[in-house]
Amino acid sequence: MNILVTGGAGFIGSHTLVELYKAGHTAVVIDNLSNSNPESLNRVERITGIHTPFYKVDIRDRQGLDSVLEQYKFDACIHFAGLKAVGESVSMPIEYYENNIGGTLVLVQALKAHGCRNIIFSSSATVYGDPAFIPITEQCPKGSCTNPYGWTKSMLEQILTDMQKADPAWNVVLLRYFNPIGAHPSGLIGENPNGIPNNLMPYVTQVAVGKRPELGVFGNDYDTPDGTGVRDYIHVVDLAAGHVAALKAIQDNCGLAIYNLGTGHGYSVLDIVNAFQRVNGVKVPYSIKPRRPGDIATCYSDPSKARKELGWQARYGIDEMCRDSWNWQKNNPNGF
Ligand code: NAD
Ligand code: UFG
Repeated sequence: MNILVTGGAGFIGSHTLVELYKAGHTAVVIDNLSNSNPESLNRVERITGIHTPFYKVDIRDRQGLDSVLEQYKFDACIHFAGLKAVGESVSMPIEYYENNIGGTLVLVQALKAHGCRNIIFSSSATVYGDPAFIPITEQCPKGSCTNPYGWTKSMLEQILTDMQKADPAWNVVLLRYFNPIGAHPSGLIGENPNGIPNNLMPYVTQVAVGKRPELGVFGNDYDTPDGTGVRDYIHVVDLAAGHVAALKAIQDNCGLAIYNLGTGHGYSVLDIVNAFQRVNGVKVPYSIKPRRPGDIATCYSDPSKARKELGWQARYGIDEMCRDSWNWQKNNPNGF
């Protein structure tokens, strides 16, 4: 299939390109580069030998979208483009709603106008809020989000659901990611956060490489085995492969389909620190800090629906996630 990948220069997008090419698909990337470096696409070419046509286009720019959509015939769009910093979204809610929701509205109208009514959307486990039950299945009710970023995901799920209901010619796949970490095993592409990392693994790798003195562990008094927060970390290469699998749902005319992409295993913050130190033979000094506002104790998936319906399941474990995160950081201490 020929795929339009929005936000394809970013962390998950660049890894997804590799998996798309491995599966024999073709792709075109649009990205406004607000949180990425086009060097990622050169690296994808080094890994795969395939050059990705790239257009610096903002998804809010209808003319820019039209100019790309006029040049190619796309079978589906994988839509990663969006702002994703939780803390920033609290201080800049309008920018987040405008970029993520406004941008997606422009995108789907442009896609439809050019005859493409297949979209795979990057959603998040954040839509479950403080989950009603664990492990989380897709049947788990959506919850209250604790920040505007999370609300953009929850609202966009509703918008795309309503769109598909009104026009059943659309196929909409909502992929709810759990916590993507790791990097391509080549060490050529990986996560490249701007400024101080918000997320656990990029913070751990920056401490390990000596850029930051220690990790703050946000709370050790949760109701979890060691008191620290438990999450479902998933290797980004597995997550990327989940998008290729989701194309199957599109080909089968799924209408609206929702899948969790996780491993089904929960690891605590200290599990991650300990695994990272053991696998990589490096030290990660840490100290216990207060809980981070908005955090929940435990969040992990039941990924069996994606296994049954898409034939997809995560292959990598926590050791490979720690190994590949470190390999990327070590080889690219300042990102791309
Ligand atoms: P990323 O920031 O690396 O990639 C997003 C890309 O979108 C960037 O390259 C950015 O430049 C681009 N972009 C942003 N706004 C744009 C716009 N208006 N027009 C065009 N391009 C734009 O982030 P990522 O980790 O690769 O995440 C990809 C998607 O997955 C995002 O939608 C994110 O919200 C979602 N997601 C990520 C996680 C995670 O933990 N990384 C978890 C759940 C969901
Ligand atoms: N943590 C620390 N110290 C840090 C960073 C994180 O102890 O410096 C802890 C958190 O308190 C939490 C765990 O590590 O217990 C994971 O935190 P992350 O920030 O890495 O991930 P979250 O689960 O909070 O959120 C992430 C993304 C969201 C997404 C969600 C579910 O940031 O965008 O996963 O997919 F919605």
